[in-house]
Amino acid sequence: MTQKIIIDTDPGQDDAVAILLALASPELEVLGLTAVAGNVPLEFTAKNARIVCELAKRPDVPVFAGCDRPMARDLVTAEHVHGKTGLDGPQMADPTMPLQDKHAVDFIIETLRNEAPGTVTLCPLGPLTNIATAFQRAPDIVERVARIVLMGGAYFEVGNITPAAEFNIYVDPEAAKVVFGAGAPITVLPLDVTHKALTTAPRVQAFRDLGTQVGLMVAAWTNFFERFDKEKYGSAGAPLHDPCVIAWLLRPDLFTGREVNVEIEVESPLTRGMTVADWWRVTDRPANALFIGDMDAEGFFDLLTERLQRLS
Ligand code: BDR
Ligand code: CA
Repeated sequence: MTQKIIIDTDPGQDDAVAILLALASPELEVLGLTAVAGNVPLEFTAKNARIVCELAKRPDVPVFAGCDRPMARDLVTAEHVHGKTGLDGPQMADPTMPLQDKHAVDFIIETLRNEAPGTVTLCPLGPLTNIATAFQRAPDIVERVARIVLMGGAYFEVGNITPAAEFNIYVDPEAAKVVFGAGAPITVLPLDVTHKALTTAPRVQAFRDLGTQVGLMVAAWTNFFERFDKEKYGSAGAPLHDPCVIAWLLRPDLFTGREVNVEIEVESPLTRGMTVADWWRVTDRPANALFIGDMDAEGFFDLLTERLQRLS
């Protein structure tokens, strides 16, 4: 049986690869893409999501634009990583498929109400604004969510946008607090694990060797955002964050983690957006998330390359 998912996203080259991985995987039925402001403003993320669908030759996947700013703060973006458009790298044609008229939050609410309870998984790859807004507006949908599998946060790796916080959570900590407090089952793919999914030269060459439009594009996108991360971390490649979410759905055996309590810091100007994960279980706070800590990176890249090959 296929698993129904909604991908909530702010593409972003790594979001784009995650979307491609999902669209290439017969185990998953992508009910829609919901764009949110994050890496770049909403105008770009809503456009980029459609560019990716067209690259995968899937213009039938509905794309919805959602919230254009965080719940309680000004938008912080990451053009320094992803470029001005969010998908900088090779020039890409504007999409011809339409953006849906419906707001992404309405799509999320209606889909969860219309599908059987416990059958729709939410896959947030950006700030949690759309998801939290949907939960606040329609609290009845929370218990209908099968699981939330998200990229965000960090514990041992601490921050990538501030010393304490990971970008997706930092941009909208109030939304993250709503989501982590909602009571739906959550899997977190934090920097602790995504920093192990490094785009080393042989792995990028494997994308290129596919020889397809998709393979060449993924290699080119990777080259673009690598320039920043390799310099920053001094690593052999850049972390391919968001595809880890989809990989966890497909092959949870590639990952290990712990059920722990995760709270979101929203007050402190110094540590705002920090995911305070009780990894060592030193409090009585109940577990609210499966916090992933390790992965088989080689297995992950094998899976990704094999799946991308299917999108010719
Ligand atoms: C996250 O922030 C974005 O820049 C990436 O797309 C990813 O979702 C990593 O911190
Ligand atoms: Ca993202």
